[in-house]
Amino acid sequence: MRKKIAKITGVAGYVPDYVLTNAELETMVETNDEWIRTRTGIEERRILKDKSKASSDMGAEAVKLLLEKTGVSPDEIDLLICATATPDMLFPDTANVIRDKVGIKSGFGFELSAACSGFLYALTVGAKFVETGLKKVIVVGADKMSSIIDYTDRTTCILFGDASAAVMLEPSEDGTGILDSVLESDGVGRNFLYQKAGGSLHPATQETVANKEHFIYQEGRTVFKYAINGMVSSIKQVLEQNNLKKEDVQWLVPHQANMRIINGVANMFDFPKEKVMVNIQKYGNTTTATIPLCLWEWEDRLNKGDNLILTAFGGGFTWGATLLKWGY
Ligand code: UT7
Repeated sequence: MRKKIAKITGVAGYVPDYVLTNAELETMVETNDEWIRTRTGIEERRILKDKSKASSDMGAEAVKLLLEKTGVSPDEIDLLICATATPDMLFPDTANVIRDKVGIKSGFGFELSAACSGFLYALTVGAKFVETGLKKVIVVGADKMSSIIDYTDRTTCILFGDASAAVMLEPSEDGTGILDSVLESDGVGRNFLYQKAGGSLHPATQETVANKEHFIYQEGRTVFKYAINGMVSSIKQVLEQNNLKKEDVQWLVPHQANMRIINGVANMFDFPKEKVMVNIQKYGNTTTATIPLCLWEWEDRLNKGDNLILTAFGGGFTWGATLLKWGY
């Protein structure tokens, strides 16, 4: 008997209207368009300007569109997992805020925290729930990165943008779907990429605010090296475990943190440019939204049966690779 697996049956995304260009960043910090383009590949990113809106509002927009596209009604949803590094609040969790904003009363929801690998982790967890009996699971990545960026720090403010994107998971009848995942993590990474204050170790005080400890801190060069090594090793492992050669893969869907990292990973496997999904130039690094945002943009070009490898690296450190056979 064929093992029950989950497949993606729909994908939708949301990006805010405001476009923050490299030219505008030049007026804010000592940087320039050429440096940003050549070092990162980013040309512009989207920013949620409305201060009354949060990650959940972007997540809710993506989920509403997903329900519309798939023709699924909110009361059919068994589970909604929200991956985010920028929850609306420390608690309650953002998944349940999204569920409320969309009108989902059935089933349950929870938030999952794995920084830029959040979507990959959440997709794997969501798939496991489908494998054990749930029928309709939504996985959404939503991040208002602008809420934790110091727009006077040129080393981080050029990198990130705001967005969300979501997928529907349902049981697969035809062998397509999420076939395997290699997920890894190493807490040594907590020293190189973090938001210091706001948790139980350093609760908010006047000092933490004055010292800008509620913003992202990153040692870029160290993260860069770990990112390439991590993604390459998990892609290798997932290929080996499934007796696949790199030629068997139609699409590489990498986390969009830096064009040089994406090229570094793709080159290790000789993946030609045409097989690699890249939209970093338009959105920058949207943390948990990068991978589903790519799937959303490429949806029309995907064919049933295509083998996709999704790969990510993020704070923690967390990283991994997922192999899936596109289902529609
Ligand atoms: O998604 C989560 C995981 N995160 C990542 O994967 C990000 C990994 N890291 C990176 O993408 C890159 O390390 C960065 C894009 C963050 C930085 O690029 P880099 O090539 O590693 O630059 P660097 O930090 O080595 O800095 C090179 C120079 C420095 O000047 P000096 O010391 O050589 O004089 C920086 O001060 O570039 C300078 N610099 C800038 N110059 C203009 C740093 N940021 C900027 C800037 N504009 N925005």
